[in-house]
This record gives sequence, C-alpha cells and structure tokens, in this order.
Amino acid sequence: MRLILLGAPGSGKGSIADMIQQKYNFPKISTGDLLREAVKRQTEIGIKASAQLGKGKLVDDDIVIALLKERLSQDDCRQGYILDGFPRNVSQAVNLKVINEQKNEIVFFIETSEEVVIKRIMSRLTCSSCGAIYNIYTKPPKNNLVCDVCGGQVGQRQDDKPEVISERIRTYHKDTLPLVAFYESSGHFYRIDGNGTRDEVFAQIEHVLDKAMFRKGPVKDQDSL
Ligand code: AP5
Ligand code: MG
Repeated sequence: MRLILLGAPGSGKGSIADMIQQKYNFPKISTGDLLREAVKRQTEIGIKASAQLGKGKLVDDDIVIALLKERLSQDDCRQGYILDGFPRNVSQAVNLKVINEQKNEIVFFIETSEEVVIKRIMSRLTCSSCGAIYNIYTKPPKNNLVCDVCGGQVGQRQDDKPEVISERIRTYHKDTLPLVAFYESSGHFYRIDGNGTRDEVFAQIEHVLDKAMFRKGPVKDQDSL
C-alpha cells in the first residue's frame, strides 16, 4: 500500500506521517528529509541539490526522483510506505506510477488555512540529526533544545524564515495544488481538515486506514469520513 500526503508547507504532513508510521508500521519517506540528509552528507546528489534547497522552490525532478528510487529499493518499503512531500508536481506524480506501481494507493490532502501554516512553521523546531519535529507551543522538546528521540540538537530549519516561507507557499500554489485535480479524478482521494490538533487530524486518517486495512484486495471506492 502507498499512502501519499499532500498539503501546504506546515500543514502537518511530517507530523502525521510519524503518527501513521507508529500505528501502521509503514516507513515514512520524506523527500525533504532525504534532500537535507544528502546535502549534510555532501553526496553527489546532495552537492547538486544544495544550490536549490532552502530557497523555497522545488529541487529538480531528476534529483528528487533519483533519491526516491534509491529509498524505495530498500527492503522496508516492500509492504508499503508513506510519502511525505512527494509528488510535488504533476510530472512527479506521473513518474511515480512508473517508478513503483501500486495497486493500493490512498491520497490524503491535508487542507489547512494559510494563517495556521505560517504560525506553525514560525514556531517549528526540528532535530538536525534525526529530523524529529517539535513545536515551541504545541510540542516542545522535554529538555530545552535536546531531541527527545536521539539527543541531537534541536533548532530552526534553514528554510523556516519569513522570506522563504512566502516563496514556499507560492511554489505550493503554482506547482503542487494542481495535484488535487490529478488525484481527485483518478485515485482514492480524501480531504482531511488539517486545522485541528494532531489527534483530531490523525483521527480522520485512522478512520480511512482502519477500513482499508480490514478490506481484502485493492481499495475500490471513496468512503465518506
Ligand atoms: P519539505 O521538507 O517537504 O517541506 P514542506 O513541504 O515545506 O513542508 P514542511 O516540512 O515545512 O511542513 P509539514 O507539512 O511537514 O509540517 P510539520 O509536520 O513539520 O521540503 C523542503 C524543501 O525540499 C522544499 O521547499 C523543496 O525545495 C524540497 N523538496 C522536498 N520535496 C521535494 C520534491 N518532491 N520535489 C522537489 N523539491 C522537493 O508541522 C509543522 C509544524 O506544525 C511543526 O512544528 C509541528 O509540530 C506543528 N504541527 C503539525 N501538525 C499540527 C497540528 N495539527 N496542531 C498543532 N501543531 C501542529
Ligand atoms: Mg515536513
């Protein structure tokens, strides 16, 4: 099974993917995390991506697709996986069908107001070692700026600055929102109200996934939430 999380920057894709991973045991694959890790490790792909990452525009499709292909070839993806931040445009969505065909695919579109996403991004903290996601107001690390998960250093992401945030939101409207029409007509697509608490958002996703897990064979039609 493949789960795709669509949503604006700061809509909660990464946080919800963590919750899905914990309950359903599918690995979370965040192309943002893969890119940041490649840049940190200065791999060949990381060196290519470093000029583009952190500016609010999309990194070139061929770079992201190469990273994703490599990640999907790993054993833990065999039973299924969660995509957080991929696809980001229609061309990536078309490529995904070729890279890894999946009979069972569910797309969640996390809809969140612009006011909410800006507030969330401005107050986000991220672990620079493992990528764990925190929030100054709603999920602070227990011990100052030390990561609860790995003990790494927690701080602001390089692209969580006001000027980059507005560029990320512009890019989202231009490149990523057209995916709603792409998946609404062809996939198993669910609109999720992303403005509530993490638990409220996750409950809507659980409702869909619990039904899908108990059903035998491919997911056939849209269930009402
Ligand atoms: P990426 O890392 O994917 O960033 P993004 O899409 O901008 O999304 P964010 O990670 O900012 O937000 P999120 O939705 O994951 O929210 P989170 O859970 O953290 O991409 C970064 C860059 O990489 C891109 O700009 C691009 O350059 C490049 N890139 C990545 N993928 C690419 C691709 N496929 N193609 C090309 N380029 C690509 O939550 C945000 C905050 O809110 C946190 O503090 C969290 O604790 C809090 N929070 C979450 N949910 C709730 C809730 N329900 N209530 C209260 N607080 C909440
Ligand atoms: Mg994220």
